[in-house]
Amino acid sequence: MTSPIAHRSAAPSQFAVMSSTLPASDVSEKHAESLYVIPAADPEKIRLGKQYELKKILVGWNAPIPQSVDLSKVTHVLDVACGTCAWTVDLATQPLIRERLPVPGQRSARDDSIHLFACDIETKFFPDKSITDKLGITTFQHDITRPFPDTLQATFDLVHVSFLFLCLTKDGWQKALRNCYDVLKPGGFLLIDEADPVVYSDMTSAPPEDAEGHDLEKCLQAPGWVSEANRIYAAFAIENGFFVDMTFQLSRLLRDAGFDVIDTKRVVAPAGRACHTLKPELVENGLEDFSVENLSFIFEHLGAALLAKGKLCMPDGSVVTSSEELKSMVQDVKQGFREDGGFSFGRYCVAKKMHK
Ligand SMILES: C[S@@+](CC[C@H](N)C(=O)[O-])C[C@H]1O[C@@H](n2cnc3c(N)ncnc32)[C@H](O)[C@@H]1O
Repeated sequence: MTSPIAHRSAAPSQFAVMSSTLPASDVSEKHAESLYVIPAADPEKIRLGKQYELKKILVGWNAPIPQSVDLSKVTHVLDVACGTCAWTVDLATQPLIRERLPVPGQRSARDDSIHLFACDIETKFFPDKSITDKLGITTFQHDITRPFPDTLQATFDLVHVSFLFLCLTKDGWQKALRNCYDVLKPGGFLLIDEADPVVYSDMTSAPPEDAEGHDLEKCLQAPGWVSEANRIYAAFAIENGFFVDMTFQLSRLLRDAGFDVIDTKRVVAPAGRACHTLKPELVENGLEDFSVENLSFIFEHLGAALLAKGKLCMPDGSVVTSSEELKSMVQDVKQGFREDGGFSFGRYCVAKKMHK
């Protein structure tokens, strides 16, 4: 199948879009290694799908996008680091979007046809081609820290980025936001939601929204399961040079990259018992257990990566040397979530591309 990218004419609206999975060589010369340590296999694919359901409840949009994004004039959409394409598939199946999707193999007569693209550094998570074809989604491999091909520059009305906080260094984020800026049309929107890898069990110990950030020393050193959780979650981010305080930094990072933040909200993400008080809808939708299993699964992988580097420590600073000890840490954390409840913070931003 020919590449729609290669066939793109000067005006984005004349994009000869055909749903396809583009070979990596069409869009990028060489891909850097992903820094994401969770293997691209079925358990992660299933987890990402369910995590998307959970996130939708947490952000409270009841839709793939917040009300601040008007899709009526949006014709080109790109989901960056899309994972399983959960967001793009959800968008494509919304009734008002579905009727605007081009019929595969045919040029659409509608002016408001909507063209959906999704990319990731790892193609193993993509849904079956029969599914993306049916929904008119074009998938391709791309490392967000590298510029998109020239043919895609200034093409999209809406770019979506979600949950890259365990994938990019601080330097990687600067490059990623620049690349998102460049693929957007002037005035286009970036919808981004991220989280902080820091766990709390009690709201009085958590930082207010206008704080500088997290008190990491306290989070890592207090005795008990919460510090064990942070010795995995926050320590992994620190060890890799990732942000631990994205929810505090995101608006500034976006402004520095040339965006105007038009909508943003901090979101509390409870796990286990805390779902009952902080987000009862999670319990009503049968997601309380998943809220614990989701984090435990992540912690097993981040903990194993730290252990392999000799960088996994207990709250008292002693080095963890065996996978049995890691297992017991994760077990403590799971029990803590289930019995006491815990939470972390996320934030979404809708940012408009301004002239730099
Ligand atoms: C936690 S998953 C989130 C997936 C999806 N955005 C979601 O919210 O369900 C992180 C994704 O980022 C991808 N990723 C990691 N590093 C990347 C990079 N440098 N460029 C593009 N994608 C990357 C991973 O392959 C993985 O699919």
